Amino acid sequence: MRLQNDSLSFDDLLNFMKYARSTMGFCWMKSNPDKNSRLTGLKEKVYACALCEIAKTRHNSVFGEGNPDADIMFIGEGPGEQEDLSGRPFVGRAGKLLNKLLSSVGIKRESVYIANIIKCRPPGNRNPSESEITNCTPYLNRQIEIISPKLLFGLGKFAASYLFEADIPIGKLRGRYIKKGEVVISCSYHPAYLLRNPSASELFIDDLKKAIRCIDL
Ligand code: URA
Repeated sequence: MRLQNDSLSFDDLLNFMKYARSTMGFCWMKSNPDKNSRLTGLKEKVYACALCEIAKTRHNSVFGEGNPDADIMFIGEGPGEQEDLSGRPFVGRAGKLLNKLLSSVGIKRESVYIANIIKCRPPGNRNPSESEITNCTPYLNRQIEIISPKLLFGLGKFAASYLFEADIPIGKLRGRYIKKGEVVISCSYHPAYLLRNPSASELFIDDLKKAIRCIDL
């Protein structure tokens, strides 16, 4: 960090605050009441949604959570058992692994936003159906619009296919990135896959680091 006349310059301070916000979860630095109220309004719509059959079997809709001003937004597939019971994304085993992977690249979970392609748990953790994805993704799109992240990072094949608008295996899509308007889109393996294939965690870390380098944090 550069010193000017023994004191920090305004740019130094700004850069430090950007760094702190992105890595340490200093969410209070950029809190936006308008975003919060828009997200709350959207969450109410999601909680009331009954478009799919799986709305009947859910304990809770899992809207998503995190910093509404996040630069990075992670998109998973859909709630599992623990998420359905708690109403929060990525709180089960895959979520714990995701937290570890984020820490390993210096990201605090509280500094990012985490949502899913679908908001209700498919019974038995089956894959989301096409109609469920079609019904639910307008909510996700609205969430993305409100949060307006710099990086959208898909976790696993359903999120990757949706974000890249391409039906390509995750093994081929991972680590790639494209730009849609101002937003960088990238993806890697789903943490549940990494639980079964721990050696692929290194690839996930590489993919995430590469995507972060593409954005101006
Ligand atoms: N898997 C997902 O895709 N999302 C969650 O929230 C939890 C597990």
